[in-house]
Amino acid sequence: MIRFFSKISLSIFAFEVIITLFSVVAYPSEQDSTLHYPLKIPVKQEWSFSGLFGKWDQGQLQRGFKIYVEVCGACHSLDLVSYRNLEQLGYSEAQVKEFASEYTVVDGPNDDGEMFDRSAQPSDFFSSPYENKKAAISSNNGALPPDMSLLAKARAPSRGGLSFILDLFTIYAEHGPDYIYSLLTGYQDAPEGTNIDENLYYNPYYIGGDALAMAPPLYDQLISYDDGMPETVDQYAKDISAFLMWTAEPGLAARKQRGFVVILFLMTFAGLVYYTKKRIWSNVVHC
Ligand code: HEC
Repeated sequence: MIRFFSKISLSIFAFEVIITLFSVVAYPSEQDSTLHYPLKIPVKQEWSFSGLFGKWDQGQLQRGFKIYVEVCGACHSLDLVSYRNLEQLGYSEAQVKEFASEYTVVDGPNDDGEMFDRSAQPSDFFSSPYENKKAAISSNNGALPPDMSLLAKARAPSRGGLSFILDLFTIYAEHGPDYIYSLLTGYQDAPEGTNIDENLYYNPYYIGGDALAMAPPLYDQLISYDDGMPETVDQYAKDISAFLMWTAEPGLAARKQRGFVVILFLMTFAGLVYYTKKRIWSNVVHC
């Protein structure tokens, strides 16, 4: 039994050494430029929900939600999130009901066959800022602000090199929030000689080109926090990115917790099977 476990810990150690050596070669340094879009590799951040034991930071999610309501929600929809999902962020049923009632949704048809407006209930999905896609496009100089529900999972820019192999082993899955954070903090003046269309803003972290139609949506002191966290673009960008990871995968923390228990069970079970096998065969004479 002891030999079995020492073999396991030796293999884990060897695995870690290989991963560490490999990471030096595989990961291009952050801020590196690429030959494709995005021009710069998203900057890796520390997230409470990363890794094997990742869990949500509820305060951060609440701050991110506030940013969505006060800023991003003016242009971006959240079609797949319903008001009652907000209870997972620590809000009470009454708070959610009150929040939902501030919005209007289209319901119907009624008995006369007509659609009608009513105030939203907790079971409704977030109402969109625009009536339809065409209205959204025409209000944004011809560009459609994408729905944000799954954005954090839908963007995973390559980090170059052989990092995609390493990411599998280091369970790195935060490409999306790292991308959103980098985009929000990465606006800068276009380098000399770069031609940027009018109404576009240069951003080397944008996945679709060297500039995008969204003006920098955040600036310092824009949103007030009541928990003492810094009211800076950097903090705002982190909080909204974490919130968008939650909208994309609300069950992430529960999945990690379950996964850990399953792995623990499988390891114990493997040990027991090995031990049983040794017991059963120990008295059998080998010919
Ligand atoms: C005034 C409207 C407006 C506001 C406010 C706004 N956006 Fe946008 N956003 C857009 C538009 C339009 C695009 C599409 C840009 C394009 O296609 O060039 C966009 C694109 C994006 C993208 C890039 C998506 C991609 O395709 O990779 C992200 C990320 C994003 N917005 C995040 C945010 C966040 C986070 C906020 C709030 C802090 C926010 N936006 C606020 C209009 C807005």
